[in-house]
Formats: sequence, C-alpha cells, structure tokens
Amino acid sequence: MAGQIPPQFIDELLARVDIVDVIDSRVPLKKAGKNLQACCPFHNEKSPSFTVSPEKQFYHCFGCGAHGTAIGFLMEYDQLNFPETIQELADIVGMQVPVNQSVSQTPVQQNLYDLLDKASQYYIHQLQTHPHRQLFVDYLQKRGLSSKTVEMYGIGMAPDGWDNVLKILGANPQLVKQLTDAGLLIKNDKGRIYDRFRHRLMFPILDRRGRTIGFGGRVLDDSTPKYLNSPETPVFHKGSELYGLYQAKKNNRKIERILIVEGYMDVIALAEHGITNAVATLGTSTTTDHLRLLMRTTPEIVFCFDGDNAGRDAAWRAAENALPMLGGNQQLKFMFLPDGEDPDSIVKSSGAEGFNQHIDSAQNFSEFFFTTLTNKLDLSSMDGRARLVEMTKPYLKHVPQGVYRDMLEEQLAELTKTNKNTLNKHLETPKSAKRPAKKSAALATMTPIRMAISIVLQYPILAREIDDARDLASLEQPGVNILRELLETLHHHPHLTTAALLERWRDRENSAHLQKLALQNLSLSADALKHELIGIYSQLQNQAKQQRRIYLEAKPLSELTDAEKMELRSS
Ligand code: UTP
Ligand code: MN
Repeated sequence: MAGQIPPQFIDELLARVDIVDVIDSRVPLKKAGKNLQACCPFHNEKSPSFTVSPEKQFYHCFGCGAHGTAIGFLMEYDQLNFPETIQELADIVGMQVPVNQSVSQTPVQQNLYDLLDKASQYYIHQLQTHPHRQLFVDYLQKRGLSSKTVEMYGIGMAPDGWDNVLKILGANPQLVKQLTDAGLLIKNDKGRIYDRFRHRLMFPILDRRGRTIGFGGRVLDDSTPKYLNSPETPVFHKGSELYGLYQAKKNNRKIERILIVEGYMDVIALAEHGITNAVATLGTSTTTDHLRLLMRTTPEIVFCFDGDNAGRDAAWRAAENALPMLGGNQQLKFMFLPDGEDPDSIVKSSGAEGFNQHIDSAQNFSEFFFTTLTNKLDLSSMDGRARLVEMTKPYLKHVPQGVYRDMLEEQLAELTKTNKNTLNKHLETPKSAKRPAKKSAALATMTPIRMAISIVLQYPILAREIDDARDLASLEQPGVNILRELLETLHHHPHLTTAALLERWRDRENSAHLQKLALQNLSLSADALKHELIGIYSQLQNQAKQQRRIYLEAKPLSELTDAEKMELRSS
C-alpha cells in the first residue's frame, strides 16, 4: 500500500502540508517556545504534554508516548488508513494523488466500491423502469417524498426475485465472490447463492466521500424485518458510519449544527422539509467514533430521541459514549420528542418550524446528565445526595480533566449541598502519567551510530556536513546501513524534514526504531550536535578504513587486484 505511492509524492505532500494546521484544526494548539502544545488528544490529562514541532513537522506526547508525522496523526485521530490519509492531505493542499498507482484504496476494496456503486445504479434504474415500479413509487409518495429528495438520497428498488443482482453483476465466480464480500449476495449452508435484498425499497449508505458502502432495504408493508441492512464488510463498519452525512456536507457549506436522529426515514423526511443537517446511526447506538467524526464537522451536536423509555435509554448510552469527548469546543445537546412521535412525524405534522421549536428546547449535556441521574433520587435527604455522588463518580472519571469537568464537579457539589473539597476526596483519580525524567544516562549509553542517526533525523540540515556517506560502505556495524541511507537520501533531497524522512521508512523493518531515535532527547545545542555528528562520522570513517585494511591484509597477495594493492599501500 504505502509502497504504491511514490516517496517523492509523500515528500512533496509533507513539504506543503503544515502539521501545525492539520493538528490545530482538530486540537487547538498554544505556542510554547518554538513548539506548540495542547492537552493530548490520545489520553486524558490536565496539563499539556502533547507537543508539536513545526521544525521537525512531528508531534510527540510526553505523557503517553504517542508520536508521529502529520500522516500518522491523521491516521490515528481521524481513524483513516494510509491511502485515505494521503488523499485527505492531498485534498487540503490541492495536490493530485498519482492515479495509476491506485492509492485511494487497496485493489480488493476498489472492487467492492465499484460493485456497490453498480448495484446502487441498478436499484435506481429499477425504480425508474421496472414493470412493478408503481408499488414503490406509490409508497414513496405516501411517505411524502419528492423526486428531488428521492434522487438526493439515491433511493432505488430491489425487485422481487432471488437472482437479479447475481445475474446482472455476477458474470464470473470472482465477481460472485466479491458481491458476497460486499454483502449483496448471501451463500446459505447448502452453498446456494442468492440476492440479499429482494422486493425492498433500497437506501444506499454512502461514506463521507460519497462512495456507496452498503444498503438498508425496507419492506413496503408490515412484514419483518422492517429493514434489512448490509452486514459488516471490508468497506462498511456500522460503528463509524453515519447515514446522511455526505448529503449534509454537500448541502451545507458550513454545518453549524448536526442532528442525530434514529432512522433513515427521519433523515430523509427532514431533508424533504429543508432540514438537511440530520444524520442517523445505522441501527446502533452512537459510538465514540461517530462523535469524534461529528465533532470535527460541526460545533454543535443535537441528539434527537423519542420520548419513550427506549429513546431515553438510547440517549443515556450516547451520553456515556460522549464523556471522553466533553470539554472541547463542541456543544452536545439532547432533545426528546413527545411519546410516539419521531422527527418524520413531527416535520410532517408541524413543518420545519414546528420541528425547530423542539430543537430550541434541547437540554445541555450537564442538564440531561444530572436530571437523568437525580430522577429516581430524593435529593432532600442526605442519603439521596450521598447516593448521587456515588452514582456520578464512575462517569466523571471519564471526562477529560479541565474546566468542563471542574464545572460538572461544582454542579455536583451544589446539588449535593457539599463542597468541592469534600467531593474531591471521593472523586480522586490517579494522577495522569508523569513525564519520564530526562534520561541523560540513555544518551551516555547510546552507540555512536545511533547517536548519529538521531542527530541526522532530528536535524536533517546537518547531513550537509558529511561529504560522502559511501565511505562507510565497508563498515559492518548494526545501523550503519540506515545511517548511510539517511545521509544519501538527504544528499539527493536536502530539504526533507524529520517527518518526510520517517515517512520514507513507514512499513519498513526499522520504522519503529527510527521513530524512537527521532524522539531521543539529545539535550545539546544544534551547534554542539554538529560537532558531535562530525566527530562520530570521522570516527566511523576511521573504523571503516581499519576494517578494510584488515580485510585486504587477510587476502592472499595473489588475489589482490591492482587497485586493491594501491589502496593497501596508501592506507
Ligand atoms: P425506525 O423503526 O424508527 O425506522 O428504526 P425509520 O427509519 O423511522 O423507518 P420508518 O419511518 O418506519 O419507515 C430506526 C432505525 O433502526 C434501524 C434502521 O437503521 C432504522 O432506520 N432498523 C430498524 C433496522 O436496522 N432494522 C429494523 O428492522 C428496524
Ligand atoms: Mn419512522
């Protein structure tokens, strides 16, 4: 995968992208000397130990040890794979990822995306041309959907029959296998293969780049299951996809608020009434992955749930999953609809305006959190208040330390008529990971080669001090080939940053090793390091010469070439 993208492209990409912008747009950074800092997004902490170096184009957390380049950060934070990350960064700086290398996905995935797209086109075409289409057209009309909305959401129909998709898209055994992998065909115990979706209204599920990754298929009557959905496949993961997000982004240049609703039909009915900022989870509760994705998209997230018990339970699960993400710049709100209603029914009966009134009455997270917990308690009694502290404890510890958590604690103190000091005794959590002590001892025990690699990685500009790395060719020592390769790379591409060098090693054997060396605290000035590097290099040169002489001297005179004899004499 990584090998398919030319290293020059990645160099160029990393030269244009600034890791500071990439991270700052997701985790606001503050200046701290020549670096920037924030509380680490990868673990809970109160004081910032997450550091970004503009110079090295590299980030590192002293608390949890997370580190990497802009590419590594996006992979980790946005949960993207390598090709997706390259695409994302290339999009930001307006570069074209080389197409013939097929970088945006692995070949296997590419086939699945192609097939799912073809299937979607097929279902849409059926809704326009099939002899039995009227049944479906009538149903859509009954649900109040215009052809514009039907088109916007790519709604189609799977005709009756066991082998429509199988016949049309499964021309050979390989395609049949891929259609099965894509979730469009099912193979039963007896080995019989048939269409998963039959006689259903089809809702394609798109990822955030607009690629079809799965389907939900609805029956037209009251039979069960009401919806049949694609299974998990290599391209479809329910826990991290949201129905309607692609359309929401397409219809809104800037999304000020996103509504999370429960059903496909809620998203679509709202869009029909001009409310195009709703998304739905796919029959699962809202996961932290969902929330992370949404928080990058919008400053305000409003959960819309039914007012019944199931809706309240679902809201509580969503709130639990949101705990680790509280306290950022995003607002989370909870809104409950009257029992028996859903967004679809409300917007139908009282229009967009009526629905928006419900949004205005949404509760803040803290409001929802404490009302839910105190609902069954009697706060006028001491026992009730003590119980509240106990109940709140396990939740609060998941909230990142910071102002927001402090305020939740203050609110808890107020509700329980106690003070923060008393509470703190009971809410105490273990201190977050300590910074490892600067280990100058580690430096002292570092081999010269590792030291040289560290210096070159961290200060690529110093490679210019070394004329010709080929001098080291005959040296047999662990790491010497890496050092040589680094130096040679920098001679050909003198402007590479630490990040670009590390990316060249991604997926190679020593990648983790190099990352460590790039992080090694060298605690010397750049000038001192220059002398250190030059010193080590000449030391290595001497060793190389010595090894070479021993080698030549060990050779019988008759086997030495003229050049070797010359070399031996002059050494
Ligand atoms: P709903 O029953 O609220 O569906 O289920 P809906 O989208 O509002 O559909 P209509 O209005 O009855 O036509 C909410 C979501 O739960 C999942 C689907 O994702 C659905 O949109 N679900 C529901 C299933 O996956 N399977 C089912 O059988 C039912
Ligand atoms: Mn519904």
